Amino acid sequence: MCGIVGYIGTQQACPILIEGLKKLEYRGYDSAGVALLNGGNIEIVKSVGRLHDLEKKLNGYSPWGSIGIGHTRWATHGRPSDVNSHPHKACSSDFAVVHNGIIENYLQLKGWLASEGHIFCSETDTEVLAHLVENFYQGDLLEAVRKAISKVEGSYAMAVMTDQEEDKIVCVRKESPLVIGLGKGEQFIASDIPAILNHTRKTYIMDDHEIAVVENEDVSIFNGTGKKINKSVFNVNWDQQAAEKDGFDHFMLKEIYEQPPAIKETLKGRLDIENYRIQLNDITLEAEYLKNLSKINIVACGTAYHAGLVGKHVIEKLTRIPVEVELASEYRYRDPIVDPERNLVMVVSQSGETADTLAAMKLSKSMGAKVLAVTNVVGSSVSREADSVIYTWAGPEIAVASTKAYITQLVAMYLWGLYIAQLKESLSQKETKEIMDGLRCIPSQVQCILEQTSKIEDIARVVYQKDDLFFIGRGLDYAVAQEGSLKLKEISYIHAESYAAGELKHGTLALVTEDTPVLAVLTQKNIYEKTLSNIKEVKARDAYVIAVTLKSNKSIETEVDKVFYVPENLDILMPLLTVVPLQLLSYYAALMRGCDVDKPRNLAKSVTVE
Ligand code: M6R
Repeated sequence: MCGIVGYIGTQQACPILIEGLKKLEYRGYDSAGVALLNGGNIEIVKSVGRLHDLEKKLNGYSPWGSIGIGHTRWATHGRPSDVNSHPHKACSSDFAVVHNGIIENYLQLKGWLASEGHIFCSETDTEVLAHLVENFYQGDLLEAVRKAISKVEGSYAMAVMTDQEEDKIVCVRKESPLVIGLGKGEQFIASDIPAILNHTRKTYIMDDHEIAVVENEDVSIFNGTGKKINKSVFNVNWDQQAAEKDGFDHFMLKEIYEQPPAIKETLKGRLDIENYRIQLNDITLEAEYLKNLSKINIVACGTAYHAGLVGKHVIEKLTRIPVEVELASEYRYRDPIVDPERNLVMVVSQSGETADTLAAMKLSKSMGAKVLAVTNVVGSSVSREADSVIYTWAGPEIAVASTKAYITQLVAMYLWGLYIAQLKESLSQKETKEIMDGLRCIPSQVQCILEQTSKIEDIARVVYQKDDLFFIGRGLDYAVAQEGSLKLKEISYIHAESYAAGELKHGTLALVTEDTPVLAVLTQKNIYEKTLSNIKEVKARDAYVIAVTLKSNKSIETEVDKVFYVPENLDILMPLLTVVPLQLLSYYAALMRGCDVDKPRNLAKSVTVE
């Protein structure tokens, strides 16, 4: 999704802005631009396409100036084009604005500003911000921005500069992330930490409604009521290398290979092996409340939602507490039933910035519910607004397709299920021990799968030329099939659907032919035979069948066309293993089809607009 960068200091800003924007490319975008302030002039250069198109336009010439803002845009209002790209300026060219988010009342504001004589040149919602600031400007940029945002409905992270005050950039956030990187005699602004990490680790993470005046030597932050506040500095403790490719062809592949250490990191310090107890020291929710829960609502989007589907099976089995899983975009607009005394809302989000998930969280809190967040990003909006957080220590995930974040979200589900089971004493020590021992084996078992990629490449060679594919499974296997299906369509653009295996014959079987391969996940022992029957049904319709199953199911070889064996562990833990070949299959199929694996078309890493 859109990315913001800004620089004020003594160096030439343009190369710093471009370098910062490159670090945000992974978020997904379709155009880019920079604005530089120098000697009473604002110079803007923008281009539709990738950053190299913008660089070509700059063609070795960098607009001069040591104050600047830059942006990568992911089109929402108006198609991708030079004119719709940011930065946007006002009529007088005195103001330049970059913005992430959506101005919901922009048409109304545009109408009003037009009636005041403002002339618009783009189709965007953002342009109204530049005109609003211009409209209210009376020699004080901070004041003009304040007045402008008082008129605005919607979400924004915004940075504004003017040639009337050449010593500052003013920025503000509401429901869209923004950080300020603190340097010596220079400051950096960005919508995401990787953009500034080459320069500083000291940051201010802006909160909703805060406005910052950023100057060479000083950053002043004001809260929503206009009061100057002392913000604590947040030190980023991961490095740039963790956000780079490290010799892999793609971030996605690198991140798939990082899963064993990511799982270990997420388990670290949380399994007390000597006493067979779970330690979640950061959980501040009271034990009495957790013991008496009558329902847990898991709310999330995309892959994080799929992690929630596994979570439902796991938490219900371990604790006997009913769990509902819902897409955040649905939850936020219906009238969900949440009992603040006896229900817990769990939000799951890698980025911690997904607009729908944040809105669902706010709605839950407004109903008095307690919210537990599972997130990968320390300091993200979700982490700051939740009552308690379980961090997934996957490290920065750059590829749009989520892999290591998903697997560590699953780990968080097991930890949470075990933690509540421990409070409720719903599991025996022997059962707890078995699961904890099983979890500890997972990293090496994932590693073992990663050493068999050539087998998955063989399967990808069959799949990549197909137009449609079905993923089937039952129970936990079905939950993983749903993630496998999303992964394949997301990066290879092959149409894929996941079905509960028993559901096929209620309609979808009509679509199964020799041209629609069926990938079946079969690891749950109690329903193995049932899924096998469903395999026979699709085989009878000439489908090419691929099975992902356990070594002990060797007899399946006579029933299907290809098998990939995953190492054996407890049934309940199998999603942690079966998802890995599905991730690799999508990766290789996408590669064979020549797709842009890390930046699939139309998609963005962090979906900060609804
Ligand atoms: O950052 P989040 O976990 O909240 O993101 C949710 C989804 O946008 C995300 O999982 C998306 O579905 C992935 N691109 C899938 O690989």
